Amino acid sequence: GPQVCWLAPEQTAGKQKPFMYTQGQAVLNRSFFPGFDTPSVKCTYSATVQVPEGFTAVMSATSWEKQEDNTFVFKMSHPIPSYLIALAVGDIVSADVGPRSRVWAEPCLIEAAKKEYDGVIEEFLAVGEKLFGPYVWGRYDILFMPPSFPFGGMENPCLTFVTPCLLAGDRSLADVIIHEISHSWFGNLVTNASWGEFWLNEGFTMYAQRRISTEVYGLAYTCLEAATGRALLRQHMDNTGEDHPLNKLRVVIEPGLWGVNPDDTYNETPYEKGYCFVSYLAHLVGDQSKFDAFLQAYVNRFKFQSITADDALGFFLEYFPELKEKGVDSIPGFEFERWLNTPGWPPYLPDLSPGEQLMKPADELAELWAADGLNMEAIKAVDITGWRTYQLVYFLDRVLQKSPLPEGNVERLSEMYPKISKAQNAELRLRWCQIILKNNLEAEYSKVKDFLQSQGKQKYTLPLYRAMWGGSEAARALAMETFSATAPQLHVNVQNYVKKILGLEVVE
Ligand code: BES
Ligand code: ZN
Repeated sequence: GPQVCWLAPEQTAGKQKPFMYTQGQAVLNRSFFPGFDTPSVKCTYSATVQVPEGFTAVMSATSWEKQEDNTFVFKMSHPIPSYLIALAVGDIVSADVGPRSRVWAEPCLIEAAKKEYDGVIEEFLAVGEKLFGPYVWGRYDILFMPPSFPFGGMENPCLTFVTPCLLAGDRSLADVIIHEISHSWFGNLVTNASWGEFWLNEGFTMYAQRRISTEVYGLAYTCLEAATGRALLRQHMDNTGEDHPLNKLRVVIEPGLWGVNPDDTYNETPYEKGYCFVSYLAHLVGDQSKFDAFLQAYVNRFKFQSITADDALGFFLEYFPELKEKGVDSIPGFEFERWLNTPGWPPYLPDLSPGEQLMKPADELAELWAADGLNMEAIKAVDITGWRTYQLVYFLDRVLQKSPLPEGNVERLSEMYPKISKAQNAELRLRWCQIILKNNLEAEYSKVKDFLQSQGKQKYTLPLYRAMWGGSEAARALAMETFSATAPQLHVNVQNYVKKILGLEVVE
């Protein structure tokens, strides 16, 4: 079926040979193999894959072996849910980046891939093990996918699939790798039993990601990254309306009028509202090391199982009987039941003020650029050359929030900071394109098209089409023109979501 992706040579980085891959999550693997395609069921698997000469097959498996006749034999020795079974075949090669890690990529990308992550993966894994317990999967390898891969990363066990956009040259997007590594405990060991409680996978993983990040990069940087996450949640809720039924942690998944397709639950709510809920649980405990110990006990209690939010929260109260005694699950306004079933902005937000030292200069600079009659002296006094990518991202999100800026300001900003307006980093390009559209800067429209042509990540693609479609006549024309040029290279799900935005017919 179309959910197994077959790419022509032109759709790869090297443009020489075809490529195929599967993306199981949420419910696409039912077009790959017959099975119980629900996260509530786990099993081991093995697979024998024969490929043409000159191709290599890789899978999310604990062991693999190449036999005669280009045949690869894979085995996953731990029980996993069906959505984590993944296969990719292409002209790919590998390079070691750590004692239990290698990168896989097309030959033309392998140098860059090795350089990006050589020597750093092991530290992320070791910190994860220290915090959450043993890493049970054996190897942790990374496969760089063709540009149309619809996600930043996909936590296929033993072999994370990632977008080639991560090859920024400066390790600035390693948070995605830390995120996927965190799924080794939250999601892959302890799994949501239903896609209606996807936040159990993603909310706990965001929390774990930021715990690892705090240990490796420090609290200030991690709070800055979390603040950009909060900005995404704000944008998402503004777009959909806070009361949208998908803005609950627990959503109803059923066919028909009231239910939603599990793939449609992929938005910022399970991630960032889920993160706030887990942070709230940590806040109730009040002591980081006690909460870390709880997370480790939680993994140990539920490993290789699929659970519901009630299981998770029941275990929390059992683990902290004094909190259960106090009735923390029913504090007015913060009831666990309310967290799960009420749409809208999280009732509790973790304190991100330790990131202030990094955010404040960016806030102030955005303020300066939003003014009528620019104070160029004050602007020039701010030196952004040493800013980290996430500081720039944070700054651009603030500028976007204040946009449209007074006439002419964005043009001056663009000239002043080529580091931003000519950036190659995908997170910066996304924000710059959003600013172009919100300020209706027609002279730079080609950058939007170029960016959408260069990659097909869903979280970059949909916001830009939404912005174009909500904009001027010219912006709408740009949307149509870009979509007709790029549609065939997008993942079928992303294609369908764009069609919905553009009011085009979707064939289900
Ligand atoms: N498991 C998700 C990707 C996913 C979600 C695929 C839902 C299909 C359906 C993965 O772990 C993920 O969350 N990736 C993020 C990383 C980010 C939060 C650091 C992404 O792709 O943006
Ligand atoms: Zn995730």
